[in-house]
Amino acid sequence: MNADAIQGGTTAAAHPNLALVKYWGQRQAALNLPLNNSISLNLDGATTHTTVMFDTTLPHDRVVINQALASPAAAQRVSAHLDRIRAIAGVDTRALVISHNDFPAEAGVASSAAAFAALTLAATHALGLQFDDRRLSALARLGSGSACRSIPDGFVEWVAAEADEDSYAYAIAPCGHWDLNVTTIFFGSHAKEVSSLEGHRAADTSPFFTTRMAGIDTTLERVRSAILRRDLLELGLLIEREAISLHVIAMTSQPPERPWMSGIYYWQPQTLDLIQRVQQWRRQGLQVYFTLDAGPSVHLIYEEDDRASILAHVTPAIAELGAGVIHSRPGRGAWLVPLDEVPAPALDPTCRM
Ligand code: PMV
Repeated sequence: MNADAIQGGTTAAAHPNLALVKYWGQRQAALNLPLNNSISLNLDGATTHTTVMFDTTLPHDRVVINQALASPAAAQRVSAHLDRIRAIAGVDTRALVISHNDFPAEAGVASSAAAFAALTLAATHALGLQFDDRRLSALARLGSGSACRSIPDGFVEWVAAEADEDSYAYAIAPCGHWDLNVTTIFFGSHAKEVSSLEGHRAADTSPFFTTRMAGIDTTLERVRSAILRRDLLELGLLIEREAISLHVIAMTSQPPERPWMSGIYYWQPQTLDLIQRVQQWRRQGLQVYFTLDAGPSVHLIYEEDDRASILAHVTPAIAELGAGVIHSRPGRGAWLVPLDEVPAPALDPTCRM
């Protein structure tokens, strides 16, 4: 099959999202149902394009990710998601899936969230299923929990619910609502030893998990309100404490499959170095805050008006730490991409090994 043959495919794109209130711990693992609501924003500095073409001549799904044949585990995860969509559409045709990220894997932005959001939109559309955002979001969640938050536009809240169809994400404010900047700083390829899936499963073994859950509704209410009022002074410290709360849980939880571990450490020395620099920058009067996901990368958050003065401090620190960087603003939700706007690697079914 050559690049022309993919002309009949459907392409969708999505941004990864960055949680301000974190999803950490599951009510039900098989359905990726979370224990608490979470709040995020889409990052427009990183994009995944995914093309799906159903083809009756294919004996099995073929999955190409970043111009290489997907690993058996990744291909299996994509096929399982396509099976859900095929079951709804009542078809059993196999598909060619070509997915391409314009950001490095080691950046610590959730490529699986963007990937499953784009895959859900492209595959449903390719099979003629016209789903609204709520249904697309709940469906994307089954592929990867936080993928549900990459479906809606801008600033997003994911509802924790007991029933599959009730746990979806919706926009609390559009991407143009607030001119925030996010600078993601990453430090080379530290392969994550403990996946977020294992982290979720271990979360309730932490003695501090009940304390986190007891305060989560107040945090959600305050973060939601600070976003709606565009109040970075209020939002900033809240999201820093929220990120640290996730890591306190991780560092004090016991992954069942790893009895030799006293806790999960996602940080690298540079992570703490940057956290301390951010506090010093604030002491000097800069309005810059951080958040962290389940990895060593540090995401800085600040307002557009402060960009020049903040980057004057941040850029030399990035160079000193030898770190990589992605700059983002709040991004749109997942969207369909016309063929002539699809980047070439997202249409090329050949693999460079
Ligand atoms: O969607 P998952 O299973 O990759 O979990 C994401 C977990 C965090 O990124 C740490 C927090 C979040 O809410 O995105």
